[in-house]
Amino acid sequence: MNAVRERNVNAAAPENGRDRERRAPAYDAYVDEMDGDTLVIETRGLTKRYDERTAVDHVDLRVRRGEVYGFLGPNGAGKTTTLRMLLGLVRPTAGDARVVGAPAGSPAGLAKIGAMIEAPAFYPFLSGRDNLRVLAKHAGVPEARIETVLEEVGLAARAGDRFSAYSQGMKQRLGIAAALLKDPELLILDEPTNGLDPEGMLEIRELIRSLGQGRRTVLLSSHLLGEVEQICDRVGIIRAGKLVAEGTVDELRGRDWLRISAEPLEQAQSVIRRVPGVEQVSRNGRALHVTADPSHAAEINRALVSAGIAVHELRRERPGLEAIFLDLVRDHETEVHA
Ligand SMILES: Nc1ncnc2c1ncn2[C@@H]1O[C@H](COP(=O)(O)OP(=O)(O)OP(=O)(O)O)[C@@H](O)[C@H]1O
Ligand SMILES: [Mg+2]
Repeated sequence: MNAVRERNVNAAAPENGRDRERRAPAYDAYVDEMDGDTLVIETRGLTKRYDERTAVDHVDLRVRRGEVYGFLGPNGAGKTTTLRMLLGLVRPTAGDARVVGAPAGSPAGLAKIGAMIEAPAFYPFLSGRDNLRVLAKHAGVPEARIETVLEEVGLAARAGDRFSAYSQGMKQRLGIAAALLKDPELLILDEPTNGLDPEGMLEIRELIRSLGQGRRTVLLSSHLLGEVEQICDRVGIIRAGKLVAEGTVDELRGRDWLRISAEPLEQAQSVIRRVPGVEQVSRNGRALHVTADPSHAAEINRALVSAGIAVHELRRERPGLEAIFLDLVRDHETEVHA
């Protein structure tokens, strides 16, 4: 599994002062190479310490314009703290962040960002629409925008109901509507499906996917791997404050492999090893795990059959992201306690 990670994933090295210095020139070159405009969020060594506890530890996050970026990590990993720093709600202990072309928390940047962090607060006795009116007035957003965002999040029909009478899913929708009021370039959503039933989750996921179309960038935090896999273009995995991997879902998942069961197995193993293009063959219970481009499957089959080996099964397998996620998280756990 480690090999998969190293080959395919931009896995962040354990941080210490010396490593960071060594890595800095490569990082700078990478950033310079990119059109400055393509990076909507760029953090360098972003760190937050609360007394002895390091909540966020040298995080270098790069979110590109137009993508839906999944910020994935278990409870307490540092997701909310990172998002708060991006919004200027929490002051970093070290490092810095630029968000939509401005330092984190500056008014110029905030004007282009819509955010929903943890459970959004609304007046319970006001309707959804009136809650948005209060916010729109405060933000200097024209009233006409309210109906647009209510439509966009699918809340128009219930917009006249009191907030206190809303279901959990409706509350989340109103939170997203509030975040959309300024028609932001960047939408930051902190665990937007928390507390929803499976159907509610599905609806919010579809909504987020539609909101992320076009040039709008969405940064979504989640502790649910499946959710991020379904919605996001790229994923950053955070564990105990550190970004342990970053890449597209496919990059994180790694390459497909071949599962072969054949008789006799030992002989099959040595025949497969000799097929050109086969990188590795290992025993996986009563089958073989073959690392090779799956386009070699027919060739492998031919070699086995002509060696008189009975092939019971030859199947292309996709590595589960779940296993890779757990692997990254476990690896890191050993590091933390070392
Ligand atoms: N204001 C604070 N004072 C002290 N410690 C804090 C504070 N805010 C966060 N922490 C600690 O920082 C760590 C990261 O917390 P954070 O809320 O960022 O995690 P998270 O990834 O959002 O978790 P969850 O999935 O539970 O929302 C935790 O150990 C938390 O206890
Ligand atoms: Mg959180």
